[in-house]
Amino acid sequence: SKSTTVSITVVGASGDLAKKKIFPALFALYYEDCLPEHFTIFGYARSKMTDAELRDMVSRTLTCRIDKRDNCGEKMEQFLKRCFYHSGQYDSPENFVELDKKLKEHEGGRVSNRLFYLSIPPNIFVDAVKCASLSASASNGWTRVIVEKPFGRDSESSAALTSALKQYLAEDQIFRIDHYLGKELVENLSVLRFSNLIFEPLWSRQYIRNVQLIFSEDFGTEGRGGYFDHYGIIRDIMQNHLLQILALFAMETPVSLDAEDIRNEKVKVLRSMRPLSVDDVIIGQYKSNTNGGVSYPGYTDDKTVPKDSLTPTFAAAALFIDNARWDGVPFLMKAGKALHNKRAEIRVQFRHVPGNLYNRNFGTDLDRATNELVIRVQPDEAIYLKINNKVPGLGMRLDRSNLNLLYKARYSKEIPDAYERLLLDAIEGERRLFIRSDELDAAWSLFTPVLKELEEKKLIPEYYPYGSRGPVGAHYLAARYNVKWGDIGVDE
Ligand code: BG6
Repeated sequence: SKSTTVSITVVGASGDLAKKKIFPALFALYYEDCLPEHFTIFGYARSKMTDAELRDMVSRTLTCRIDKRDNCGEKMEQFLKRCFYHSGQYDSPENFVELDKKLKEHEGGRVSNRLFYLSIPPNIFVDAVKCASLSASASNGWTRVIVEKPFGRDSESSAALTSALKQYLAEDQIFRIDHYLGKELVENLSVLRFSNLIFEPLWSRQYIRNVQLIFSEDFGTEGRGGYFDHYGIIRDIMQNHLLQILALFAMETPVSLDAEDIRNEKVKVLRSMRPLSVDDVIIGQYKSNTNGGVSYPGYTDDKTVPKDSLTPTFAAAALFIDNARWDGVPFLMKAGKALHNKRAEIRVQFRHVPGNLYNRNFGTDLDRATNELVIRVQPDEAIYLKINNKVPGLGMRLDRSNLNLLYKARYSKEIPDAYERLLLDAIEGERRLFIRSDELDAAWSLFTPVLKELEEKKLIPEYYPYGSRGPVGAHYLAARYNVKWGDIGVDE
């Protein structure tokens, strides 16, 4: 409304995340007319910079949607005029008091809401939150803080971080981002299940044989080795992104679409998970490889990674949810860097058709003949269902075909970046896509014992060549539960 204003402070404004994601997302929201009429954006960081220099830096990160080219340049100019910079230390109350003064000038006596985005290393989260909260909180509107993982590196350190943050903030002021929850197809999961008749009745152990959650990237940890080596792929991808998808996938029907109702159901799933045993996890690490005359570095070739590092860059795990709906259904996760493709997807393999009249048409591999639903989160967003179909002709030959919803073909609009959705929700106070502290605790409880065991026993990862399909151990693990990974890469 006319009398309120929102001030967004990007703490750590010159960092990678700010440049790659936060400023571009804020601009996209501005372009789409989603930001309130009165808003101000402040970049905050240690380096000295003028407003003009910040604008110059930000302007280089902004892009226009393909479908929105006309007045984009003009919009950028207007947007940049609302961006300012304040240089300060992350632990200096005085510097935050100065920021507060500047924010007040811009707010011009309106009701002021303040959003802080902490785009800084985790070891300074608490200092920055303390300063922001004590010295730069809104005096008459809300104050919210967005934080992004790592939220600790095990149950204890995560709980310590939560309680430190809660000295200065109430739980409802903390917006923990898991950016996978802002992805279009992850958000659509609930729509698919709960607004179509044909999926939800099949969504249980009765019809589903296994569920696979797959994340792969075709590049290594280049440039991020310092961060990555302290965490590894299980903490980087599985404990958060893949587990969040699993929780949404497997939850019971929530009472409503309200944030608390949805998060209540997700946390029930997480708390119903069978403790994960180290025998149900396999780990890998990529090694150098030469392909087509090009050589690709191994993980430990990175200067910021210790030569003897055992940090996994690949992991696969078999998980179970011990509740009535999912008893005995393996949920297989696989996540890796430096693999042969870049992909995130959910694959649901259904059971065999009982007494199938056509069994003899499938040859020996009956598993390959079962229905499979694939939700491809990225790239080339798609939902497709593999069905058996008669090849037209006089004979009776069956093949597998796809009922295919390819987003590119169906929707002409470009899909917004996850950060746009999440920033907008934080501004609007919509908490559905943010992680509540009990969810975070449950997620850590699942993985902490395994992480400890892997690290204490110094288990050696299986080495796989950069650009390959990853460790064969993942196939043995799946085979133990009668599962074949579905990503054979031939199904579009
Ligand atoms: C981040 C991880 O959370 O997600 C990165 O720290 C990973 O290692 C990234 O590359 C992947 O996100 P996206 O949106 O590019 O799939």
